[in-house]
Amino acid sequence: MSFTDKVAIVTGASSGIGAATAVALAKDGAKVVLVARNEAKLSQVAQQCEQHDAKYLIIKADVSKDEEVKTIVEKTINKFGQIDVLVNNAGFGKNASILAENIMENFDHIMNTNLRAVVYLTHLAAPHLIKTKGNIVNISSVISLRIPSGDCLSYAVSKAGLDHFTRCVALDLSPHGVRVNCVNPGPVKTDVLANAGVQNPDMLFEYWKSKTLLKRMGEPEEIADLILFLASDKARSITGSTFVSDNGARLA
Ligand SMILES: NC(=O)c1ccc[n+]([C@@H]2O[C@H](COP(=O)([O-])OP(=O)(O)OC[C@H]3O[C@@H](n4cnc5c(N)ncnc54)[C@H](OP(=O)(O)O)[C@@H]3O)[C@@H](O)[C@H]2O)c1
Repeated sequence: MSFTDKVAIVTGASSGIGAATAVALAKDGAKVVLVARNEAKLSQVAQQCEQHDAKYLIIKADVSKDEEVKTIVEKTINKFGQIDVLVNNAGFGKNASILAENIMENFDHIMNTNLRAVVYLTHLAAPHLIKTKGNIVNISSVISLRIPSGDCLSYAVSKAGLDHFTRCVALDLSPHGVRVNCVNPGPVKTDVLANAGVQNPDMLFEYWKSKTLLKRMGEPEEIADLILFLASDKARSITGSTFVSDNGARLA
């Protein structure tokens, strides 16, 4: 797929699915904007983009903070003058039951990062996407469709909200020729569990794997392939849709 002369913003580009997506976009000719909080990890991903002779911009930003979200669009326009693709990928989960004392803190933190930040960044990027007739890919989760265990209500609700946000914004932006879609991965081996503070991520990944129909974990590059397809012209008829890639976890 060719993304030559396209400018793509990827949030959460410092690891996992976001990093794989940024590198794949760079390989296919895009100028990539790498957004996350960990600058050292962003630099490593930028080096991989450079190996494909891609132009890139690193933006250190916490997407849960409005003033930092603003800088993402400002710095992208200053450097590259346009936005063609927005991949809203930054996200995290942390378990808490409705009975937990910290449930409201847990809910606010997760919703601010996984959903509110997406709303604000999309709002700021939309006028630029309208100019280029660009598109948006939101990274949700299969957990929006099936809840595999208890205690993950904040994460599950944030991702269910993201699915419906995708449909709402697809409707709003369709008169302007901007497509908006969603990818809902199942278990993918990334830093997601370590970042959630899970003590033994490998053990939980093995458990998740055993719970899929195909008895395998997804790889970040497979999810990146789907994101690139949706962001490309090949998907020009597709908007307001959600795409599950979960090794059958939803049905298991
Ligand atoms: N892995 C899975 O099994 C799985 C399954 C379904 C859905 N997903 C979704 O896929 C997306 C990517 O996750 P992943 O698996 O690739 O996990 P990951 O390796 O932990 O990556 C998460 C990314 O989000 C960034 N991030 C988190 N909070 C942020 C904040 N406040 N501001 C800016 N960046 C932030 C992290 O960067 P910094 O820490 O550097 O800020 C990191 O780059 C997430 O939305 C996740 O919910 C993952």
